[in-house]
Amino acid sequence: MKVYDIAVIPGDGIGKETVPVGQKVMETVADIHGGLKFNWHSFDWGCEYYLKKGRMMPDDGIKTLSQFHHIFLGAVGNPQVPDHISLWGLLIPIRRQFQQYINLRPVQVLRGLTSPLKQVDATIKFIIVRENTEGEYSSVGGIVNRGLESGETALQVSSFSRTGCERVIRYAFERAKQTERKRLVAATKSNGIIHTMPFWDRIFKEIAAEYPDVDAELTHVDALAAKMILKPQAYDVIVASNLFGDILSDLGGAVMGSIGIAPSANLNPEGRYPSMFEPVHGSAPDISGKSIANPLGQVWTACLLLEHIGEYSLARRVLDVVQDLLEERIVTPDLGGRYKTKDVEHALITRLKNV
Ligand code: NAD
Ligand code: IPM
Ligand code: MN
Repeated sequence: MKVYDIAVIPGDGIGKETVPVGQKVMETVADIHGGLKFNWHSFDWGCEYYLKKGRMMPDDGIKTLSQFHHIFLGAVGNPQVPDHISLWGLLIPIRRQFQQYINLRPVQVLRGLTSPLKQVDATIKFIIVRENTEGEYSSVGGIVNRGLESGETALQVSSFSRTGCERVIRYAFERAKQTERKRLVAATKSNGIIHTMPFWDRIFKEIAAEYPDVDAELTHVDALAAKMILKPQAYDVIVASNLFGDILSDLGGAVMGSIGIAPSANLNPEGRYPSMFEPVHGSAPDISGKSIANPLGQVWTACLLLEHIGEYSLARRVLDVVQDLLEERIVTPDLGGRYKTKDVEHALITRLKNV
């Protein structure tokens, strides 16, 4: 019996509605497998916890999580708590402390879905490899001349370490090597950002020299955003800094039809620390509590966890059933349907059991 101890953090907003669906799916396939078991341990950390206790998780939260194989998270964020407090109190420390420096975000127009890019009929399937621990997301900076009406200025220092750039770029080359076309595009902005981005480009070119069989290209992120809309079928692997990858991955979600289905894995590739699996989307306060959140981002995220632990055929099985539902149009309103979160869950579990 393969047993995995999974820390579950539903978090805030629709995370509480989608996480149970992801868990149910994993439970169901574990039962089908017979030799696989998930031991769940749920944590009520997040903004409600903060409003009661003044912190997003206990002081020893990271230590507690380190005892688990992996983490399954919903979303973090509540309009009653400033985002920089909630995210820097829970999500970002987990990504950093556990060296989850790869944020893998697949983009694929699934069977049964039509991309809003209707003129594109070719296959759209690529992955975004986002740097996840440094870059533009930095705690270095502050407000200068606070209170001086005319001179008050906010400074935010980006920090790109050689190690940080090399490891994410090398990972992306390795992924590109495994694709049929062996193509890798790096998002840059070295025409406007004159310290960090030329450094990123230089490291990209150095590593490209180690992979002569990979067709490697640097593209300005603004142009890349446009090309992702005009010619998304041209991409196999895109590597990007923390902020650029964040923005491109919501765009990727939109290209697939809804950010409600976009999955994401925060990986510590060495396996020294737990990896964390969470959808691309946030806590969606505008729809939370209405039971209409699309659970498929969380379910596809569960597939990434299954793949990560080597259960490829179970992950395929889940994604096949997801695509059957999409074809049958058993979908939530974000995809133009009239179904509720629970209806999608019910249809999914019933079909999974009957495969
Ligand atoms: P969001 O992703 O929560 O929502 C953007 C839009 O997409 C909203 O209109 C929402 O209703 C819709 N949407 C998102 N997920 C959906 C789903 N599963 N089904 C149907 N519709 C869905 O982004 P936001 O509004 O910028 O952020 C809201 C809060 O979430 C903020 O506090 C933000 O900081 C936080 N956030 C957290 C994470 C995370 O925890 N990983 C990610 C992104 C945003
Ligand atoms: C994401 C989110 C987070 C990020 C925020 C909430 C800090 O947008 O996971 O995509 O920017 O990494
Ligand atoms: Mn984001």
